[in-house]
Amino acid sequence: MRKILIATDKPFAASAVKSIRQVVDQSGYELRLLEGYTQKQELLEAVKEAEAIIIRSDIIDAEVMAAAPNLKIVVRAGAGYDNVDLKAATAHNVVVMNTPGQNSNAVAELALGMMVFQARGRFNGKSGTELKDKTLGIHAYGYVGKNIARIAKGFGMKVTSFDPFVDESIMVKDQVHPVKSVDDLYAENQYVSLNIPANDKTRNSIGFDLLSRMPKGATLVNTARKEVICEDGLMKMFAERQDFIYLTDVEPDCAAALKEQYPDRFFATPKKMGAQTSEANNNAGVAAAVQIVAFFEKGDVTFQVNK
Ligand code: 3PG
Repeated sequence: MRKILIATDKPFAASAVKSIRQVVDQSGYELRLLEGYTQKQELLEAVKEAEAIIIRSDIIDAEVMAAAPNLKIVVRAGAGYDNVDLKAATAHNVVVMNTPGQNSNAVAELALGMMVFQARGRFNGKSGTELKDKTLGIHAYGYVGKNIARIAKGFGMKVTSFDPFVDESIMVKDQVHPVKSVDDLYAENQYVSLNIPANDKTRNSIGFDLLSRMPKGATLVNTARKEVICEDGLMKMFAERQDFIYLTDVEPDCAAALKEQYPDRFFATPKKMGAQTSEANNNAGVAAAVQIVAFFEKGDVTFQVNK
């Protein structure tokens, strides 16, 4: 019987685990569960017999793969797979997949939620501002970016986006104005939402030069990855621009300093929770299980990312 492991240090909603279990049971496979673990050793133990692993932001590196001699496939129930060592996976003949789009509405709702939270003075009872008629620039027009655009337009925001990998006609169809350069995106918008993945090209790419182009009173919202921000540049921006606001679902390493020095202009969720809804857990978790079954039963590698 094939052994499928869910390994999540940040557990799925119980309803999502139940749905995943149904898919796995129906296929005649066995589901094992490692949730809320705190030590890597627990993961190394749990993967020993696994042929497939469903993960979230859990780190799957060469050591984990070496500890899992039967492993054939890892599915990241989510979008970003920067937590999986793709080279090591390929070297171990392990297929890596993600489940694109499955949790994107949840992340988008959080991005807009943080904007409302800040615009309304974090619900302090004093007069705040509205999102209507404000400009929003979406940095990367993938699944999350598209959902942010849809919701932001509902708020009456003026939405633009920059994404060199997406045809402008797709944005135009969504009534989103395509911006020609990343510099323009930051210079022209009161709010900027960061939705780029973390990879060799994007790590540390959002620095002071770019941030300092933002207009007075600008707000940057990061529901993507902490690694894409240059933290020195961020600290400099806070120090030099008393009007700059940064809201993030991915705490930077310098979070404690920012919280202490700029409590009104910096906000970070205590744990990355953009995708932390039962709907997103269910969508991404079940998609992962279905992809695993399709891989074993039909050799389907549609969502493979280490080709
Ligand atoms: C993703 O890449 O899908 C999101 O960042 C969500 O990550 P999480 O599953 O660890 O919450």
